[in-house]
Amino acid sequence: PNKITSICCIGAGYVGGPTMAVMAQKNPDIKVTVVDLNAQRIADWNDADLTKLPIFEPGLDQVVKEARGRNLFFSTDVETAINEAQMIFISVNTPTKTYGSGKGMAADLKYIELCARQIAKVATTDKIVVEKSTLPVKTAQAIKSILNHTGNGVKFQILSNPEFLAEGTAITDLIDPDRVLIGGDQTPEGKQAIQALVDVYATWVPKAQILTTNIWSSELSKLVANAFLAQRVSSINAISELCEATEANVEEVAKAIGMDSRIGSKFLKASVGFGGSCFQKDILNLVYISKSLGLQETADYWEQVIIMNNHQRDRFANKIVQTLYNTVAGKKIAFLGWAFKKDTNDTREAAAIYVGDRLIDEQANISVYDPKVNAKQMQSDLNYLNTRSEDQNKTYLSTESNPYDAVKDSHAIAVLTEWDEFKTYDWQRIYDSMNKPAFVFDGRNLLDTEALESIGFIVNAIGR
Ligand code: NAI
Repeated sequence: PNKITSICCIGAGYVGGPTMAVMAQKNPDIKVTVVDLNAQRIADWNDADLTKLPIFEPGLDQVVKEARGRNLFFSTDVETAINEAQMIFISVNTPTKTYGSGKGMAADLKYIELCARQIAKVATTDKIVVEKSTLPVKTAQAIKSILNHTGNGVKFQILSNPEFLAEGTAITDLIDPDRVLIGGDQTPEGKQAIQALVDVYATWVPKAQILTTNIWSSELSKLVANAFLAQRVSSINAISELCEATEANVEEVAKAIGMDSRIGSKFLKASVGFGGSCFQKDILNLVYISKSLGLQETADYWEQVIIMNNHQRDRFANKIVQTLYNTVAGKKIAFLGWAFKKDTNDTREAAAIYVGDRLIDEQANISVYDPKVNAKQMQSDLNYLNTRSEDQNKTYLSTESNPYDAVKDSHAIAVLTEWDEFKTYDWQRIYDSMNKPAFVFDGRNLLDTEALESIGFIVNAIGR
């Protein structure tokens, strides 16, 4: 019945920005306003120069170009946007708690609660509030309790609509999603709210791919999806270590098992380990919830996925040290890639940070080239670990804007991100500019090992 014409999204990050851009592009008759407390971020979203958008995603600039100023707006005026909207998406960050009970495991929901309180404060008309952030199962209860105590008679419906986009392919994932999941109360009002959101998506997503569930199933499904995805990576990485010890080849094993349609071939690539802001945080959250409910075996089972991932990163760093004759002190090691995966500028939980930190402990000089990540970001990622002083980090970590400068005079190259362009470099030129023996540690099994070996490189790949 009530067709949505005005949407607000709180949080203009990796999820809020691209998600709302596509929603606005596909619904020209809905006004979509994305708000954020971070004024710089909003200014970047509004920059006339589309290369300055705060997030790099292939295709994002074109979507923004089409919709921005037409029915897509970015603003710091949170209150006006909330008040004007019939539907409010909460897309703020939900990092792992760094203090208090649940420290290092539970999701920190302070930003979510702040949003709920702000909505409660300014809303003067009925609203549908949509959880877009990834949240622990049962969070809607807390949001509801805050919203239902405003005392001003405004009615709220709460939906869960987790986002399944993958960074690096966000735009194609949003335009052509495997599924859209919407959870809500199974009351008549709840079902009406679900339908209103279904209608927003149905302008471009086939009805059969829009799933509706109860709210708890929806909240939990997002955590479970990430846990299963990460579990596949850790599973194949565990096998990669076994391959290295037995002369089996993990690429061959992955192909052989992946052709079994029950297993499937996707997400079976051995590597230095997964990164990104979500997998670790969401699994830790799942572990924490399980523990809180007394489900120790379930908690232990999923925690192992994280333990394996940490092990894979350590193992990679240790292998570099051991191979370089047990010392990297004073040696230059070049990193190709810093982002947690290709086609994104996001570095949160990137393997490169941890491998770099470990090698700096051994007093190596790290020289990094990444096509989309700048020096400032790399320093701040390393500083965030708090392993040593910021000045020390600065002396050990340098950033180059050209890959050939990064590798020049190095003892070894480590590939930390699977950027396509690394494959196309002039590897003979790189070899000629390095110290000999020239080592390559391919943490993504990206490069052509045989071609490199024929140039003279000593190549170490994962699981081979
Ligand atoms: P992000 O950190 O890039 O963006 C969050 C934004 O919210 C920040 O710009 C922050 O300034 C803003 N914010 C925080 N509190 C605010 C408030 N009270 N009012 C206004 N703005 C506020 O985070 P990202 O990556 O977009 O993630 C958001 C949520 O989506 C998280 O729960 C995450 O788990 C989930 N998610 C992330 C995916 C990803 O690939 N990054 C994929 C699917 C879900």
